[in-house]
Amino acid sequence: MRTRMVAGNWKMNKTFEEADDLLFGIVDGLQSLKLEGMEVILCPPFPYMEMATDVAAEHPVRIGAQNVSQFSTGAYTGEISAEMLRSMDVDFVIIGHSERRKYFGETDEVLSAKVNQALLQDLSPIFCCGEQLEEREAGRHREVVQAQLEKGLFHLSDEDMKEVVIAYEPVWAIGTGVNASAAQAQEMHAMIRELVQERYGQALAQDMTILYGGSCNPANAAELFAQPDVDGGLIGGASLKADDFISIVRSL
Ligand code: PGA
Repeated sequence: MRTRMVAGNWKMNKTFEEADDLLFGIVDGLQSLKLEGMEVILCPPFPYMEMATDVAAEHPVRIGAQNVSQFSTGAYTGEISAEMLRSMDVDFVIIGHSERRKYFGETDEVLSAKVNQALLQDLSPIFCCGEQLEEREAGRHREVVQAQLEKGLFHLSDEDMKEVVIAYEPVWAIGTGVNASAAQAQEMHAMIRELVQERYGQALAQDMTILYGGSCNPANAAELFAQPDVDGGLIGGASLKADDFISIVRSL
């Protein structure tokens, strides 16, 4: 069965105290909601992981990291391994976010190594793909996303692919206030599911969770989530306010 999901990507925001407030604001707000068949995932900055996993042990949320090393262990100053994350009860990791591709030069090759490291430690990758504005304007959005999936994910075995969540995040929609329309999101999600089906078969493709990300907010979430191939959202800016995030979860 396909799991519906809302994941909050806090990016590089919040001090320790602010993160504590947000975390408790969210879990308090979730208490009144029925969350059957859905997952709520919070992806705070690394220094707040332990606080977050402690809270997650007592509440219906799971924790994801925003990044993971492509290496397994050893002399890689400043890096954080999948094994470390697993040892702290982290369950998900965002890989391939456009900000990592753009500002940190993460290539498809590096991203596929990160996916492998995550899966070796039973972390579920939330693998992001999406085209830039110029690529959409040139009508190349489908081929760009297809190439990202082929290079980053499609080397996986069926068994590993079952653990993956895909997030379609058009770069022009991230943090801009301009979301993809419901029709644009549905078209791309259906295409992604079709590609997964061609490579992995119908059963796996039907069970695959495909999230939409990019200026998703309380006002547009319900329409986006109502699309047949949109199984939830990866939320940036609107995940930084407990009320907005809860309202998006309620739309699922
Ligand atoms: P946004 O970010 O919701 O602020 O557009 C989404 C993301 O980058 O995952």
